[in-house]
Amino acid sequence: MEELNQLDEILSCRSGGERRDVAPCTIVIFGASGDLTSRKLVPALYHLFLGKQLPEPCRIVGVARREKTDESWRAELRAALVEFARSGPVDAAEWERFEKLISYCQGDLMDSAAYQSLRERLKDFEDAQLSKNLLFYLAIFPSQFSEVVKRLHGQGLVQKESQEQHWQRVVIEKPFGHDLDSAQRLNREITGYLHEKQVFRIDHYLGKETVQNILAFRFSNAIFENLWTRDSVDHVQITVSEKLGVGSRGGYYEESGALRDMVQNHLLQVLSLVAMEPPVSLDAEAIRDEKVKLLRSIRPLAAEDMAKQVIRGQYFGGRVDGQQRPAYRGEDRVDPASNVETYVAMQVWIDNWRWSGVPFYLRTGKNLPLSASEVRVQFRPIPNVLFAANPDAAVDANSIVLRLQPNESICLGFNGKFPGSSSRLGRVLMDFRYDTGFGAYTPEAYERLLLEAMAGDSTLFIRRDEVETSWAFVDGIRAAWGEQPLSNREFYAAGTWGPEAADALLSQCNHRWINPQELKHD
Ligand code: BG6
Repeated sequence: MEELNQLDEILSCRSGGERRDVAPCTIVIFGASGDLTSRKLVPALYHLFLGKQLPEPCRIVGVARREKTDESWRAELRAALVEFARSGPVDAAEWERFEKLISYCQGDLMDSAAYQSLRERLKDFEDAQLSKNLLFYLAIFPSQFSEVVKRLHGQGLVQKESQEQHWQRVVIEKPFGHDLDSAQRLNREITGYLHEKQVFRIDHYLGKETVQNILAFRFSNAIFENLWTRDSVDHVQITVSEKLGVGSRGGYYEESGALRDMVQNHLLQVLSLVAMEPPVSLDAEAIRDEKVKLLRSIRPLAAEDMAKQVIRGQYFGGRVDGQQRPAYRGEDRVDPASNVETYVAMQVWIDNWRWSGVPFYLRTGKNLPLSASEVRVQFRPIPNVLFAANPDAAVDANSIVLRLQPNESICLGFNGKFPGSSSRLGRVLMDFRYDTGFGAYTPEAYERLLLEAMAGDSTLFIRRDEVETSWAFVDGIRAAWGEQPLSNREFYAAGTWGPEAADALLSQCNHRWINPQELKHD
């Protein structure tokens, strides 16, 4: 009984206690045999089902090349759920109901026969809405995105013309292009067959509750938003560190590196939410207009300043959590002389009225000591009088840390007097934790994103101009790096916080990185 109550709490918390209004539809997953499908997409759909968030009726069709039956695919998905479901053990009765929604359609996406059999499958569904309201999820190779959209259109499975009653939408996984040119080409190609409002470009960071809360925190709290300007803020640090190395993804990573894999999307998205102006409304377009405006205000990095403003790094062997990790160059499917960066740190200036003169520092890396994503807003120090005038006094500047994951929390750091007769000061924290504040569970990003795509709300997805503006910024950095090999000072040992040069990046403005573990307050 207690377990059931806990599950109920988890599910109602996840959906915010409200039910999204979604018309009956079919979710078609291209790339049904892939890792993303079994690890993220189907568990997310299962949780939406448990939380009664899926429309009724609803169907899930997987398409992939491998020979499978409905039964064998369902068995695979159930096994994956046992491993990945965040709601604990799979409930046999619920699963039995859920699996009835699922079927498998074998086919090669480069072959029109696959689309014909998919069409036949959709026609068999009892409700007309199930064969016409279609959410296509492209969990496939990026090189196939445009061809698949073209074929979907050619086979009549998606229509660009607006339809009164029915809709078709396409969710596109990252990476969306590998530079500005390819992103523009892809945009041109797919919007030949789809309206922008039918295209849902994913950045799973936007599905994270803590990332969505950035806007709520800023624009529903006058006390913080009033301080959120160059008058009070000294600098901002955005860290997305990962303990894992590239593991089995060496092949992919060799083509992307940290700049394309993390900065172009996740870090710039977080930056735009932290720094954007208030939107005129909470509509998707109003929010995305402001994000694009912010991205456009980022000062392009001049080639001559690049070395001072952007640091790249690559890990060599070292220990993480007591375990020896290989060097990047020794990872599977990685060139032993690879110059691909597994770490990037940069200083970014935003040339607008609010932020002029305030440096934003962004960093991300693999094989770092801790997995943590957080935004640290560091306020200006107090004037050198009173408490601060005492050379022995440790008077820290105030800070607000938005801890995006894990230990989701928002933490305000300030000074207090130690009890007793001395006037010694100490740093104390005021802390809001999601788990104690809003219940034990933080929802999975993909649940929210799938639901929003079904509901046709693109607020949490990337607009065409957003993706292009981010690529334009990142391309400048890539071009400056060119074919230059990494120098010795650009390597770091696995298990450390990146190359030493990253410290110099901040010390030029008398700043220093404050690593996430220093904020642990358990
Ligand atoms: C993905 C990157 O987009 O994000 C991965 O391709 C990275 O390299 C992952 O590990 C990080 O996501 P999260 O949600 O674990 O922070």
